[in-house]
Formats: sequence, C-alpha cells, structure tokens
Amino acid sequence: MLQIQENISLKPYNSFGIDVKASYFAEVFSEADLTSLFKNEIVKSKRLLVIGGGSNVLFTEDYGGLVVKISIKGIQSKEIDDKVLVTAGAGEVWNDFVNYCVEHHFAGVENLSLIPGTVGASPIQNIGAYGVELKDVFDSCTAFEIQSGEIKTFTFNDCQFGYRESIFKRALKGQYIITSVTFRLSSAAKINTSYGAIETELLNRGIENPNIADVSAAVSHIRVSKLPDPSTIGNAGSFFKNPVIDKHEFADIVAKHPDVVHYPTADGKIKLAAGWLIEQCGWKGKVVGQTGTWKNQALVLVNHGHATGTEVYNFSEQIIDSVKSTFGVTLEREVNIL
Ligand code: EPU
Repeated sequence: MLQIQENISLKPYNSFGIDVKASYFAEVFSEADLTSLFKNEIVKSKRLLVIGGGSNVLFTEDYGGLVVKISIKGIQSKEIDDKVLVTAGAGEVWNDFVNYCVEHHFAGVENLSLIPGTVGASPIQNIGAYGVELKDVFDSCTAFEIQSGEIKTFTFNDCQFGYRESIFKRALKGQYIITSVTFRLSSAAKINTSYGAIETELLNRGIENPNIADVSAAVSHIRVSKLPDPSTIGNAGSFFKNPVIDKHEFADIVAKHPDVVHYPTADGKIKLAAGWLIEQCGWKGKVVGQTGTWKNQALVLVNHGHATGTEVYNFSEQIIDSVKSTFGVTLEREVNIL
C-alpha cells in the first residue's frame, strides 16, 4: 500500500549520509504505485526528487518537496542464440544485478561490479568504470511519463548517451521516471581486461584465462582498495567529472606539467584525470573539518561523520578554485547538488 510520509530524515537514503529532511517521502514498489502516487492531491504542484540508491547526490538543505524512492524489483532474462536480453526493475541494487549476471554467465557488466546505486539510475548518467560504460550493454529502458502517467520505451538512440550524460539529465530532465532497464548481454563471454589495473590484478592472482567471475572479483578488489565504503564513510564516488579539453589547451598544460595523466577521446579531444589534478594541488587525503578527499583517490569527497552538505559543497569550491589557478582547467561536478 503506497504511503506518503511527512518530515522524514533523508540520512538513510543518501550515500553521503547527510542529515536533512524531506517534507514528503514515498517509496514505490511498482508502476501501479507510481500511477496512484501521481493521482494524489498532495503530490500536485510539489517539487519532486526521484532517488534510487541516493549515491549521486549532495543535499545542502532540507528538501521542501516530495522525495520518491524507486524500489521496483525483479530480473528476467531471455536468451537468443549467444545473446541474452536481461530486464531488471529500476529499484534493483546495481551490484545485485551484476552478481545475478555473473552467476548466470551473462557477460557484459562484470567490469561495472560494485558501482553503488540502482539499475534505474544507471542510464541517467551512463555509469562507467574499468573500460566499460552502461551504453555498451544498453538495449532499452521503460519510463513513467510524469505528466501523462504513461509508460514509454526508450531505445539506445533515444537516450543520447555521452560521458556521464544522457537525455534524462538534459532535455527530458524531471519528465520521466525510469521503471526498468533491458541489457543486451552475451552468453559467450567476451572479456575486457584492457584497463591496466584489471590486468595487473589478474596477474597478481595468477589467472591467465579469466572468466567473467574472475574479472568481477578483480574489479571489486580494486574498487575496495581505492574507494571508501559508503556504509562506513559517506561519499558519492567521483565528485567531479574528468575534464575533457581541446588539443591546444592540452599543449599549454603538458608544456608546464609533462607528467599530466591524460587519455585521448574518440572525438580528438583529451580527457584529464581529475584525481591527478586534485592530488597535484595538494588535496589528496586532506581532512578539512568533517569533510575532505579520500586518502587513496582524491576525486572522491567524503563525510567523516557529521559533515553538512554546505561544508562539503564549500570544500568542493576550494578544490575547483585551486585546480583552476594551477592548471587553468574548470572542474565540473558529477554529483547533483540539492
Ligand atoms: N590519480 C591520481 N591521484 C588520485 C586519483 C587518481 O594521480 O588521487 C590518477 C591515477 O593514478 C590514474 C588516473 O588518475 O592514473 C585515473 O584514476 P582512476 O583509475 O582511479 O580513475 P578516475 O579517472 O579517477 C574514473 C571514474 C570512476 C571509475 C574509474 C575506473 C569518472 C569521473 N570517474 O575515475 O567512476 O570507477 O574511472 O574506471 O569518470 C564515479 O563515476 O563515481 C566513479 C567512481
């Protein structure tokens, strides 16, 4: 039975562990719940925030509207020759979904092991890690259109994926709620170990012909060693995006900083490692009040226990200023600020 609660603490619902309140809060378990929620008078004309795992948001104040947590569950698969289409409810925890695929020998998402958050959030920012992005395995998704109450299907082309980008963050922002995602996976494993750290980890484990379970275990190990566990240290993964710059801007930087960590992009630009830029500015592992950067990965901002969202936000401003004055590059936040 759908319940709309009032004045609810959002602390358990955001991975940063920021203690703010929502005026209204509802958890939905089905598309039918969404339909009845949006028919409710209380909901009309309220500010609306949809969350999955709450792992990509920083709350800087109480939320004076309705927060909807999506908990639509269920995973089904359909094998066609050596391809398999797997459909997961938006509320499935992302890593549970990855584990399901690894256990069933469905290849394609093992490099995305242990990413926090839910399946429904994965297309919104085209999650990615260790050489694979969501768009590489995405088939389609279904979404509830808030205005009409209809369920629509979005194909790959409809979603306009980019680096941590999609149409759901841009032109259609706030208009749809993703209810399920279908992935195009393979039952004949094609392993991607191109990312250096995975190769090294597999070598350390003495594995020469890895299967997808090996890759998943290697990726999980790398993540645990580098990234803080949100259940003990609040964080939202990478706080900033890796900046993408033009070749001529890059020429200026590399002239002054020959060891700058960088990667070419498919469209002839250069992506810089924001973690490296931040570390060079002296911020890695710094503790500033209740916040700071993670000791093993400077791109991750953390809550050391009782940080406020404003404290974390102000700290992120300091980092942006310092990277700008040292390298002339403006960092853009990956995390949504509310
Ligand atoms: N680096 C440093 N100092 C640091 C952190 C990184 O010098 O404090 C250097 C590393 O040595 C490496 C390079 O920067 O040479 C890249 O570091 P890493 O492999 O850790 O990856 P990243 O570019 O910092 C991105 C994603 C992560 C994803 C990893 C692995 C973004 C914004 N972040 O981080 O995604 O897990 O690659 O593929 O694209 C997330 O988006 O929340 C996230 C965690």
